[in-house]
Amino acid sequence: MNINDLVLKKEKQEKITMLTCYDSTFAAVLESCKLDSILVGDSLGMVIKGDKTTLTVSLDEIKYHLKCVSAKSGNTFIIVDMPFSTFQENPEKTFSHAAKLMDAGAQMVKLEGGNWLLGTIEFLTTRGIPVCAHLGMLPQSIHKIGYYRKFGSSQQEKDLLIKTATSLENAGSQLLILELVNSSTSKQITENLKIPTVGIGSGKFVDGQVLVLYDILGIGNKLSFTKDFLSESSSIEECIKNYIQAVKKGTFPEN
Ligand code: KIV
Repeated sequence: MNINDLVLKKEKQEKITMLTCYDSTFAAVLESCKLDSILVGDSLGMVIKGDKTTLTVSLDEIKYHLKCVSAKSGNTFIIVDMPFSTFQENPEKTFSHAAKLMDAGAQMVKLEGGNWLLGTIEFLTTRGIPVCAHLGMLPQSIHKIGYYRKFGSSQQEKDLLIKTATSLENAGSQLLILELVNSSTSKQITENLKIPTVGIGSGKFVDGQVLVLYDILGIGNKLSFTKDFLSESSSIEECIKNYIQAVKKGTFPEN
């Protein structure tokens, strides 16, 4: 599985399946279930470390979990989050941090943010580091935003998100995560872009879905946009396969 396979899926209107993962045992299970892509997310700060936010995750910590995942992820496409404070300073430092993550087994790095990142994205991608952009709710900016909320519901936010998404694509991003984006806004962004969009709490009109693994196992957050697939399955494998099928068939999310 590589980035071209994901782009091809968009072209063929086949949904992309993605889950977070932080260790080798689950990585092996996800690969055996034929999940398209794993996100080694900085959500590990909350779901593994038990912290209140994702801000506490360090480069060494995410690298450790990435190495665990990449040991057993086989053919699954691996994206890793660049932790807070590892990509804000300047493109050169960001490149050196991203290169460490690529060395540790990532196939793409994910950066949260909009227009201020355009120069950094161009710098990384022209030097061979593939970038996944991330718009909408930005958990690393929780203290600035104040609380988890939906983005792109007002006309002003919608216009800004649509414009920023195109700029991120033009700067070289090859994938875009949309977190808690209003469904009609994420639909329009998805239609405008050639690169795939993957949504979380952003409705069904995107090219793929991502959820936190522990949420589908019923041991994580019970938020309106997550679903406990394990309660309807007889094993962890069946739960993951049910999630994959539901995304592929378009039955998850419902709207
Ligand atoms: O860190 C993470 O798990 C994420 C997803 C919520 C998209 O960024």
